[in-house]
Amino acid sequence: MNRVVLVTGGSRGIGAAVVHRLAEAGDVVYAASRSGRAEEHPRIHGLVMDVNDPDGPASGVAAIIAAQGRLDAVVVNAGNGIFGPLEEMTEEDIRYQFETCFFGAVKTINACVPVFRAQGHGRILAVTSFAALVPLPYQSLYSSAKAALEMAVMGYAVELKPFGIQCGCVLPGDTATGFTAARKKVAVRPDSPYRERMERCLAKIEKDELGGMPADRIARSVEQQLNRRRMRLEVVPRLDYGAEAVLVKLLPRRLALLAMSLMYNR
Ligand SMILES: NC(=O)c1ccc[n+]([C@@H]2O[C@H](COP(=O)([O-])OP(=O)(O)OC[C@H]3O[C@@H](n4cnc5c(N)ncnc54)[C@H](OP(=O)(O)O)[C@@H]3O)[C@@H](O)[C@H]2O)c1
Repeated sequence: MNRVVLVTGGSRGIGAAVVHRLAEAGDVVYAASRSGRAEEHPRIHGLVMDVNDPDGPASGVAAIIAAQGRLDAVVVNAGNGIFGPLEEMTEEDIRYQFETCFFGAVKTINACVPVFRAQGHGRILAVTSFAALVPLPYQSLYSSAKAALEMAVMGYAVELKPFGIQCGCVLPGDTATGFTAARKKVAVRPDSPYRERMERCLAKIEKDELGGMPADRIARSVEQQLNRRRMRLEVVPRLDYGAEAVLVKLLPRRLALLAMSLMYNR
């Protein structure tokens, strides 16, 4: 394909799998992260770019344009998670969750848009989450940040269509990556009424993630999205998650929440 693609969170996990797939298919890929680590490959460039730095995304995009003269697509994938009851989250916790998953993603997209508009083409693909569709207990902030990003991408899809820019999301379910170990756990109060339920929930979530899809399964969906003539607004990788996503959207919301409670909050 020989596109030039920027992938945030490209140093490990899903992002690294996306970087690998695209490079193997012929694209020139910039793997951006705080560490700048990237696989040794003739078409992969590691890029130190913290999406939370005020100038991080703009400088990263400028460096790509200086080297390649163009940018064809961005995959906003950098993310993190926080676990704890909403009631006991501090403002700092809330900012921690939204900073990377929402603000960092929007800042990265906004750094790419002027380039895409000047070229008359460009693709924006956000790696959100199945959790954007329904709140996961004790990960409700994560669900909120991902749902906010989904909605922003839908907004971009409308606003940027006249400029030839396409937008879409990939919504992974449980995927085995370092995300599980990196998740920040909020220190709940000693007398927290949530403690036991939370601990049971965390054990289930971690087990499901560690036994989840390989990162390359999500990377395949990202690659397919980028290769489609017309990108889909939402893709949920793997048939069972896809079917669950349809159910969540069709069911009355109260029933979807009941299912979540039965699965994760007993
Ligand atoms: N794993 C799952 O089950 C799952 C499910 C649904 C959705 N997702 C989403 O998929 C995306 C990728 O997650 P993953 O599972 O691959 O997690 P991961 O293995 O923890 O990788 C996260 C990536 O984001 C980068 N990153 C974190 N903060 C950053 C920042 N401020 N600026 C730039 N890069 C940053 C990390 O690199 P550095 O540490 O070097 O910066 C790393 O490359 C995330 O958006 C996540 O929410 C994951």
